[in-house]
Amino acid sequence: MILDGREEKNIRRAAETLAAGELIGLPTETVYGLGARADQDKAVARVFAAKGRPADHPLIVHVLGREDAERFAEGVTEVAQRLMDAFWPGPLTVILRRASGVAAAAAGGQSTIGLRSPSHPVARALLGAARELGVDGVAAPSANRFGHVSPTTAHHVAEELGDSLLILDGGECELGIESSIVDCSRADPALLRPGMLSRAQIESVAGLPLRQSDASAPRAPGTLDSHYAPRARVRLFSEKALLARWAEDLPSGLAVYARADLIGRADSLSPRLRRMPADVRETARELFAVLREFDAAGMQEIWVELPPPAPEWEAVRDRLLRAASAVSE
Ligand code: TXA
Ligand code: MG
Repeated sequence: MILDGREEKNIRRAAETLAAGELIGLPTETVYGLGARADQDKAVARVFAAKGRPADHPLIVHVLGREDAERFAEGVTEVAQRLMDAFWPGPLTVILRRASGVAAAAAGGQSTIGLRSPSHPVARALLGAARELGVDGVAAPSANRFGHVSPTTAHHVAEELGDSLLILDGGECELGIESSIVDCSRADPALLRPGMLSRAQIESVAGLPLRQSDASAPRAPGTLDSHYAPRARVRLFSEKALLARWAEDLPSGLAVYARADLIGRADSLSPRLRRMPADVRETARELFAVLREFDAAGMQEIWVELPPPAPEWEAVRDRLLRAASAVSE
């Protein structure tokens, strides 16, 4: 059931549900999360079961701030400290060495732990109310079934995980793409997942370059991680490849999300067209909702124009490359 997250009594009810070891759906500024108290392995096991996610995939633990983070982590490096000071609360997850004996299930059994302090007011109100009930942190992966597109509205969460889940409605997520993840557990930090907090912003605060990781390396077709994927087959095109393909016969059940001006063919086979915004923040905000909408309309193929490899588009390109089964550049 979807409850208005602005109402105090709903926050309290969600906090009580968490404290009792049950799951809730919660809004954050990035995407909606599926939350369980991080300090109870039994509660965390419910998250893995609900998502259909392998139990060795670590979850991100959400905390109010630095003091709570220190209950879960040890050996907080100077770089991690600077990053938390600069970007918390906000769309940054830091990976630190896990304090011994805490949140083993949430960490997927790893010796490290991912921590994030969300800025969404409903998430913060919930974390505060839950802390009063003895809950120090909330383990929350994106509230989608494993491998699917992340939800950016409360309604998406209900679609993914069913109506019996208590979901706090905090409106549409402002950023629309998951947090940037920086591994600070080793000497030189690495960007494990790009997000709307850019590599350059993170590097300028860290004071050193981030190690490159697989997540941002170009992928060859066929070796793409199947993640963030709608049901329909996603194909990516450069503008040039798309315009060339556009002149040929088009498949039925086609939806297109592109920056190029494709009007003119819309009459013939009536593919569903949607213009990708020129602005990266607008694109990130709507991207997952657009993919979902195409799926809901029963589209079989989604063709997306891959934005150029400019630094500010790194996160959007990363999600598109993971959602795609083919790339034509
Ligand atoms: O924006 C976000 O980060 C959203 C919202 C809900 O906060 N959460 C999210 O969680 O995207 P999830 O579980 O869908 O993605 C978490 C990612 C996974 O790829 C996981 O492998 C990585 O974080 N991760 C978590 N803990 C880690 C650890 N200890 N070491 C390495 N990677 C970790
Ligand atoms: Mg996810």
